[in-house]
Amino acid sequence: MGEFRDVAAIDDIPVGTGRAVEINGRTVALFHTESGFFAIDNSCPHRGGPLVDGDLSCDEIVCPWHFWVFDLKTGRHADPRIRVATHEVKQERGRILLRVSEDVSGGGIV
Ligand code: FES
Repeated sequence: MGEFRDVAAIDDIPVGTGRAVEINGRTVALFHTESGFFAIDNSCPHRGGPLVDGDLSCDEIVCPWHFWVFDLKTGRHADPRIRVATHEVKQERGRILLRVSEDVSGGGIV
């Protein structure tokens, strides 16, 4: 597993917003909700829609292309065969640190 990397200032991502960050060759969508910060792969397992551009509702993200919904805490879709990879996030001295997992998104239907 990789190291935590500094990816943004906490103040740069207000509650209710997200941002895509490039780290270890992956594009990760980082979201700030009332529950905290969450990081998932940015590419939707359906057909690759940019999840960072989706609508954030509580701790769920709705893909902007075909409206699949993913739980930000678990990466799970309502269909248990479908999921998006999640990554560890922590806060330190006003910064957001991210550690990319070796997990991969899966279960998409073409
Ligand atoms: S690409 Fe995300 S729902 Fe189709």
